[in-house]
Amino acid sequence: MKFSTIILVALVRLAVAMPAYDSLVGLSEREINEFVGRNGVAPIPNPPGPLPAYDNGLKLVNDPAHPFMTQQPNELRGPCPALNTLANHGYLPRSGVARPDQIVTAVMEGLNLGNDFAKFLTYQAFLMNGNPLTNLMSIGMKTNMTGQDPPKPALVGGLSQHGTFEGDTSMSRIDAFFGDGAAFNQTRFNDFLAFASKFGVNGTYDINAASEFRFERLQDSIATNPQLVFTSPRILSAYSEAVFPLVYFVDGRLNNRQLTQDAATSFFFDQRMPADFHRQPAPVSFEVIEPLTGKLFSDHPFVPGVNQGVNNYIEMPNTPAVSDFCGIYEDIALRVVPGQYPKPTGQLRDALMKNLGFLFGAVVFQHNCTQVFPYGK
Ligand code: HEM
Repeated sequence: MKFSTIILVALVRLAVAMPAYDSLVGLSEREINEFVGRNGVAPIPNPPGPLPAYDNGLKLVNDPAHPFMTQQPNELRGPCPALNTLANHGYLPRSGVARPDQIVTAVMEGLNLGNDFAKFLTYQAFLMNGNPLTNLMSIGMKTNMTGQDPPKPALVGGLSQHGTFEGDTSMSRIDAFFGDGAAFNQTRFNDFLAFASKFGVNGTYDINAASEFRFERLQDSIATNPQLVFTSPRILSAYSEAVFPLVYFVDGRLNNRQLTQDAATSFFFDQRMPADFHRQPAPVSFEVIEPLTGKLFSDHPFVPGVNQGVNNYIEMPNTPAVSDFCGIYEDIALRVVPGQYPKPTGQLRDALMKNLGFLFGAVVFQHNCTQVFPYGK
């Protein structure tokens, strides 16, 4: 390895080991080399546990300890309005590069996601978009701030990487076929607001608005996007994300599953919590989200599929359906992850197996899935 490469790797690993991203200035070459020798790869902490009972309830979260600050030019934001907002309030590193355990903690503290649910979303994304060696992920585009990549075909593309977690038929972003699929799109978001006006109680984004809008988003992409892909695992995130705003973005003191257009605009457009925003009054996990996504599906059932040209939707009934939770878990573990890491060895394999274990740990209790092992036990 060249000397410059050693220094780069050392700096990345050191940055990972220093949770607060402390300054590296002043370290000698010897100290850096010693660190690399000792650590090999970045340490991978276990996922955080649930919030303690004394601190898992209603709480002011747009508080003085988490002031909103606009994104700086060197800071990354991406396709998720929630993670962007949490970074703008300092629940996540404002750089937009974070460890998975930091993301789990941020969504629990900032929005009161249940622990299992937070881990499910985070480790699924990390396995598709993060760097298993440095234990860092960008919540936006690909960046060298996540360190040296593992060998291709690994992408380490950050959450903005199309065709992984980020996909088609989004509510406030355009399909990647038409441009940047991760950037907020005002025209698209105007449709979100229009559906709230038309279908929601008092013009709010509620479950009926979500149901009609989710259906329309798929129909629109079938009619316009010749390269539409709407299969596992994207189908699950698309349906969950349609429900998230009417749960987590509603002030916990009201908690009526009706998101006002002002609050929606604050999160989606400004990427900012409304003034005085309180999170959900109790951790919200699969048991709340799944019946809601189930209603969206039963209102407008669909079969997963892909477009082969505009208005030519080819159904793929043999891929897992949106209701087949364990099937989607297995699809991620046995097809999607090995697609990027076909034959990992050594520390890369260890890191992947560890993160796959964390993903399974998030789904086992509520879904009773059987663990699968793409890289052996
Ligand atoms: C915990 C880790 C999370 C990860 C890794 C994550 C990741 C993502 C990604 C990759 C997308 C883009 C999907 C697309 O193509 O539309 C997305 C969209 C979205 N996320 Fe998150 N997310 C997380 C948590 C949350 C939470 C807690 C909320 C709560 C409100 C949320 C709300 C949304 C919404 C509403 C969208 C859809 C945006 C749209 O369709 O325009 N996410 N998220």
